[in-house]
Amino acid sequence: MRRWVLITGCSTGIGRALVPLCREAGWGVVATARNLDSLSELPPGHDLRLLPLDVTDAASIAAAAAACADLPLKALVNNAGYAQVGPLELVRPEELRAQFETNVIGLQAVTNAFLPQLRREPGARILQVSSMLGRLSIPLAGPYNASKHAVVALAESLRLEVGHEVAVVLVEPGAVRTAFRDTLARAWGDLPERARGTRYEAVFAHYLEGRKQQAERYGMDAEACARKLLLALEAERPPRRVTVGWDAFWVGKLKALLPATWWEKVMRRFYGLA
Ligand SMILES: NC(=O)c1ccc[n+]([C@@H]2O[C@H](COP(=O)([O-])OP(=O)(O)OC[C@H]3O[C@@H](n4cnc5c(N)ncnc54)[C@H](OP(=O)(O)O)[C@@H]3O)[C@@H](O)[C@H]2O)c1
Repeated sequence: MRRWVLITGCSTGIGRALVPLCREAGWGVVATARNLDSLSELPPGHDLRLLPLDVTDAASIAAAAAACADLPLKALVNNAGYAQVGPLELVRPEELRAQFETNVIGLQAVTNAFLPQLRREPGARILQVSSMLGRLSIPLAGPYNASKHAVVALAESLRLEVGHEVAVVLVEPGAVRTAFRDTLARAWGDLPERARGTRYEAVFAHYLEGRKQQAERYGMDAEACARKLLLALEAERPPRRVTVGWDAFWVGKLKALLPATWWEKVMRRFYGLA
């Protein structure tokens, strides 16, 4: 294959949906996941390499970089991530730290590990999967909002530093129907117990169900989202930002247009915090 892309977090969701799309478009794909078994259903081929990769583990990143040193790596998709939710005053420091280890520090460590290889390929690009919550913040998801804002900041700095050699594309999806909200339920651990007796108890009880229903009803499917990523991989002139989904587009516009006090009123009401 003349061009290869490495994708993190291919066990489910957007990363998983992107693998066959890239292969159909003529890319060789290095599909990575923490657990290789989760990739076993991908049809084998000369255009597919499966590698274990945990973005929080330096040894795992170094091993993955060594295992594709022979490939003409033209693109990297930093897709792996999860959401740590919870009212900020109840979130433990270790939960906030873990959120940043995966979504921010892991993403940058993977980027750094593959930059030397990407630099060798003309037209190379890195897609940093952020979120609409990298541009605006909602309540009860402070750690996730903060991590995705950090991804935006890192990508903008990186673009200034290396953009003339390797393009840096920020991907900012709205709600996508994936395993994301199930993982989120796991990541909140005993937060419902911590919320008991606090002003968040009632709000939190409905939070997850509300977000899930919203994503089911209005979210786009993972394949439609992955198609937008593929467009950015293939574009002759890589975009700086790819906003994915009507919600990402319109909610961002609404925040820019509304006076701050109105915006906060709408948000509090929407999340039952009024
Ligand atoms: N779904 C949405 O509504 C939405 C909206 C905006 C942005 N996003 C972003 O899109 C990206 C993909 O999410 P998704 O919706 O496809 O969710 P998903 O189905 O839960 O997929 C997340 C992927 O990240 C992997 N991952 C988590 N921690 C990892 C680590 N330490 N090392 C390597 N891989 C790790 C997961 O692997 P395991 O199976 O091993 O956990 C999984 O493959 C995330 O960055 C997310 O923040 C999603």
